[in-house]
Amino acid sequence: MKSKRTSLVHLIYFSRLNLSADPAARTKQIGEITRQAQKKNEFAVITSFLVIDGPFAVQVIEGERLSVHETFQRIASDNRHRDVQIVEWREISKREFVTSFTTVTRSAANEVHFAKSGLLPMLQRGTPKGAVIHGLAVTLQAESMAKQGIDHLFV
Ligand SMILES: Cc1cc2nc3c(=O)[nH]c(=O)nc-3n(C[C@H](O)[C@H](O)[C@H](O)COP(=O)(O)O)c2cc1C
Repeated sequence: MKSKRTSLVHLIYFSRLNLSADPAARTKQIGEITRQAQKKNEFAVITSFLVIDGPFAVQVIEGERLSVHETFQRIASDNRHRDVQIVEWREISKREFVTSFTTVTRSAANEVHFAKSGLLPMLQRGTPKGAVIHGLAVTLQAESMAKQGIDHLFV
């Protein structure tokens, strides 16, 4: 029998990062965000995927409606990024992301996926599509899972 779940939503936003230009300092800052976000999201039963493309951040946040709302309120007022804009907010039937918080930064190793998605020009125009952000995040997650040898869970 299928039980009725409490309402599950996802929220997709994009923003401009206010992080250090120095690569080592930037990595440290991303590490701090990750630690805070993992802890809070685990507690709030949020699953999420953050993609960093140069100066831009895009994130998909999934969970119970109120938890997503409260999490986004905190994120939106964080001065480590600015111009935080919601791209999409809607009910979903199931979660797509498996961890409380994973972040992937554009690099030579994953360049092909970023280029193919066409996300950067959309971010530069200020009109990224929810489906493009979501699709790229799912692809990057699948690749990261495959590297860890757990791709069989995602067929
Ligand atoms: C790009 C970005 C993504 C973030 N993602 C999350 C997140 O998924 N969950 C979360 O709780 N905090 C996230 N944070 C951190 C929050 O903005 C906030 O600093 C943190 O939740 C601690 O909140 P507090 O200072 O009110 O305790 C993110 C911050 C940034 C800059």
